[in-house]
Amino acid sequence: MRSYVLLILPSANRVYAEAAVELTVAELEVFNLTVLSGRLRDIAAATIAGVRYVGFTIDEELTPDEVAALSNAAGLYALFAVEGSLLRPVATTPLAHFDDDLISIPKYAGKTNEQFTHLLLNVTLLSSTASSSFLDGGLRVLDPLCGRGTTLNQAMVYGYDVAGIELDGKDVEAYTAFLKTYLQRKRVKHRIETVPVRRDKRLVARRVTARITPPRGARELTLDVVHADTTAAGEFFKPATFDAIVTDAPYGVQHGSRTVAAGLRRSPLQLLAEAAPGWVRLLRPGGALGLAWNTHVAARDEAAALLRDAGLRVLDHGPYGRFQHRVDQAITRDILVGVRA
Ligand SMILES: C[S@@+](CC[C@H](N)C(=O)[O-])C[C@H]1O[C@@H](n2cnc3c(N)ncnc32)[C@H](O)[C@@H]1O
Repeated sequence: MRSYVLLILPSANRVYAEAAVELTVAELEVFNLTVLSGRLRDIAAATIAGVRYVGFTIDEELTPDEVAALSNAAGLYALFAVEGSLLRPVATTPLAHFDDDLISIPKYAGKTNEQFTHLLLNVTLLSSTASSSFLDGGLRVLDPLCGRGTTLNQAMVYGYDVAGIELDGKDVEAYTAFLKTYLQRKRVKHRIETVPVRRDKRLVARRVTARITPPRGARELTLDVVHADTTAAGEFFKPATFDAIVTDAPYGVQHGSRTVAAGLRRSPLQLLAEAAPGWVRLLRPGGALGLAWNTHVAARDEAAALLRDAGLRVLDHGPYGRFQHRVDQAITRDILVGVRA
């Protein structure tokens, strides 16, 4: 039997750092239930010489494919094999079609924590039937409440095609401006344009499309961000064309949920009720939706019921019920993952 420990990425955010060990235990369990075929055992927090790790055991040594998968765990800083009282570093090979400053450079109020966004993307992708292609690039991910693109940037680092919907025009503009500057500064080959979307000669949305050749990727990526109300998602994207939908709903603190028709509301439940059926139609069969939200403004059972009503099989077993964590006094964040039959 072999033992390994995973050193957790230091987090700039102290509260997230406190939650990171337990979140990483749950994340590794999802890796184990899916791409690692249950080979890991005893996944648990461990303290060695006063430093916190997440440890696990396995009958034989990790294979290169298993190391490649685990290299992408959101909480991972370094991986070690435990040999007696010593730790032997294991070289990791995270997917890195772009540098990770694509995710870390943007700083703004309302940004979803980067490490958490990475975890939500992982847990969602791993739960979909596309999990076997997790490392191969070429999947397609939508964030239908994309803000200034934290999910989209993480999915691009993975080499995936990305799409987003955002109602706030300032966010769409800021994200587009950031991308243009970033791609130019890094000398990344790309073509980006903003086009109006018209119906019956009326302007209904603006759409930013890009084709980007990542510095270390084998294929060109597409980016497609629409400035529109997410309840109209079906008007902008073809049905059954996404492997995963990954989104962080408004927290109802500084930013509420809004639709053009109903205006601002504190709880995201109404927005979810109106938007989720349309989102689910955009998923390929076997595709997964991962939702993060603030449990102070919407109960887990209610959010789960809405996802079920929208046609998803909500995953509630084992690690899927253990992602809840405190963000601040007003926000306790949780995750729900559902799969389209
Ligand atoms: C929690 S924030 C997401 C932040 C994003 N993950 C990021 O890091 O930039 C939720 C977003 O949903 C957007 N939103 C709220 N209601 C919407 C709607 N009906 N359609 C599209 N976007 C909406 C808000 O403007 C906000 O940017």
